[in-house]
This record gives sequence, C-alpha cells and structure tokens, in this order.
Amino acid sequence: MASTTFNNIVSFIRELYATDEFIPLHAPVFLGREKEYLNSCIESTFVSSVGKFVDDFELAVQQYTGAKRAIVTMNGTNALSLALNLAGVRAGDEVITQALTFVATANAIAYLHANPVFLDVDKENLSLSATALEMWLSTNVIMKEENGVEACFNVKTGKRIAACVPMHTFGHPAEIDKIVNICDKYKIPLVEDAAESLGSFYKGQHTGTFGLMGVLSFNGNKTITTGGGGMLLCNDEALGKKIKHLTTQAKVPHPWKFNHDEIGYNLRMPNINAALGLAQMENIDRILENKRETASRYKDFFSTMPIDFFTEPENAKSNYWLNAIIFEEKAERDEFLKFSNEEMVMTRPPWELMNSLPMFKNAQCDALENSKWICDCFVNIPSSYRL
Ligand SMILES: Cc1ncc(COP(=O)(O)O)c(C=O)c1O
Repeated sequence: MASTTFNNIVSFIRELYATDEFIPLHAPVFLGREKEYLNSCIESTFVSSVGKFVDDFELAVQQYTGAKRAIVTMNGTNALSLALNLAGVRAGDEVITQALTFVATANAIAYLHANPVFLDVDKENLSLSATALEMWLSTNVIMKEENGVEACFNVKTGKRIAACVPMHTFGHPAEIDKIVNICDKYKIPLVEDAAESLGSFYKGQHTGTFGLMGVLSFNGNKTITTGGGGMLLCNDEALGKKIKHLTTQAKVPHPWKFNHDEIGYNLRMPNINAALGLAQMENIDRILENKRETASRYKDFFSTMPIDFFTEPENAKSNYWLNAIIFEEKAERDEFLKFSNEEMVMTRPPWELMNSLPMFKNAQCDALENSKWICDCFVNIPSSYRL
C-alpha cells in the first residue's frame, strides 16, 4: 500500500487530536470533581477501604447499568475469577470463552484450576459467536445428571462445562441474547466479561447484566478509570450480598468485633480510588458522546480510504472503547503498525489468540477462522477523549 495512505491516516489522526506530540491509544481524562473528591479523602483521612465514595460509586454504576447490585473490587481480573467461583466453577471443570480476548479472561479461569475452551468470535461484533457456541456444544457435549442436577459434560474429556464467558471486544456487544438462550438450554452459567464495555448496550440493556454476573474494569486505559479497579454486576440481591461479603474478607458486621464466617478475599477498593471513579461516572455521558463523535469522524474518513473502519454491530450501542481499522492482509497491517508507531501515533494489533500462548497451548478450540482474521488484519487506533 502506498506510503501516502499511511501518511494520510497519521495526518488525519494528528488533526483529530490536534497535536504534534505523541498520541496514546487511550488516555484517562479528568473533566469534573476528581481533585475535589481526592482532596476530601485526604482531608478526612478516609483513603483506605472504608468511606462514603465506595458506596456512592457502587450506587452510581448500579444505577447507570441497571444492575440490581454492583460491587466494587480492586481489579477486574480477580473479580472475574471470583464470579466464576461463585458460578460453581471447580478444579478440573471446563469453561468456554473466546480465543480473541485479553489474557485476564483466560487467567481468571486458570486461577480456579479449570480449563478454558477457546471458541471463535463473530466478524460482526468481534465477540463470542453464538453460532460457534451452539455448533461446538451440539457436537461436543451430553447432558447428564450429577448429584441430582442436570449438567453439561464434554463427551471427549468427560469434564463438566461449568461456565461460559463471552467478552464484549473493544466495547462491541456480542449477540448476548442468543448466548443467554444457548447457555440456558445447556444449563451453563453465564458470566460476562464486560471489562471493556462500560457504556455499551445491547437492545437497550447494559452489557454485563445479561448473565448470572458481569464484570467491569476501571483500569487506566478503560472508558473511565479508578486508577485500577473493577466491579461485579448481578441481578440477584442475595448473590450481591454474598459477593460484598466475600470481597470484604467475609467479615461479620459488628461495631468492634472481628469475626469472619468463611474464607473471604481482600478485594476491597480503597475509598481514594472510588472517589476518582465517582467523579468519572459523573461525566460518563459526556465521555461516551465524545468517543462516539470520534468514531463517527473516523468512519467518515475511512469511507474514502482503501481500509475499513469497524462500526458497531446491529442492535447495539457501543462505547467505541477502542476504535479499529481492518487491512486486507497481515504484511500490510504490520507495515502500518511500524509506520504509525515510529510517527509517535500509538497503534496496536489485537491480542495474540489465547490458544497460541504457552500456558494455554493445549486448550481445546474450534477452527477460530474469524479470530485469526481479526488477529492478523486489525489495528486499534487512538481512541482517547478529545479535549
Ligand atoms: C477483556 C478484559 N478482561 C479482563 C480485564 C481485566 O481487568 P483489570 O485490568 O481491571 O484486572 C481486562 C482489562 O484490563 C480486559 O480487557
């Protein structure tokens, strides 16, 4: 591809972000009361795991996503592992997810000594394919009773399929209603990895609220950030209570006594991080509007170029967390990565597929046709809020 095309793309991104300096892929933005809230933590000394911002931040995310309960955690990875544990995943079980994801999804499964099964994603939404899921289940599992409960077992390995974890890639929702139906049919608990999709809706419902539980991330590169942090979403009050209890060392509430009734986790988010999160949530609509405007500018620009811009799938409103463009072939894509990064415009390829990483190389997978195409031909381009 002519280097003028590469030059034109880089110039357009520079014009969009109005700078000659380094352009990151996704930088945090602080538009509101962040400093005020952080100062109030310091002035009150409530910088650690207790404080009003923890409750207020949970409530803000709960109301925004429409989940019955939102429980804040130190990060998304451990929140996902806890969600899988609560969904009943045990050592030796199998958990279905997608090969195209950030390693945290697969790690969260591995922490429980369970085995990930990597299936393909859809071309239209880059997320776990309902078609691939149905196809794999219909040819690989049988339903059996175990301890009086009907469950789904892999005919080849004999292992139980204990959960399914779709991930809404780059903020683009999967066909999650179809995935819900398939999981119901096969009695597989559904836990959504919605780490990248705060602000993304499918048929009007927020991602992360369709399954038994959903997990968000507030890592520094996400749509909003708490420095580091995550949130567990669920629609069951009793389960929500249990999650809160477990993430706070399973401490039995008492004004002075330290008593614990089971093995809990220290997943509490400090008040200081929650303060940042609350201030960020107060501007979520403004941030998302700005990001959609950026996506629309990219869409218009790439409509005149020999390279496609990836747009939100049908029935979905995406947060356009990370914008992506599609090259015809890998060699050209790699040349563009080199060129743009040398020009100090940060771009990056999608993750290596999980089944190609050494620790997951023996995992079961399907043909992964779409995943391989995305892995070879896609590039993420700068997607930060434009000031
Ligand atoms: C798909 C996906 N899952 C899980 C995570 C883990 O979140 P965290 O970094 O908060 O642990 C991330 C992002 O970091 C992610 O992109």
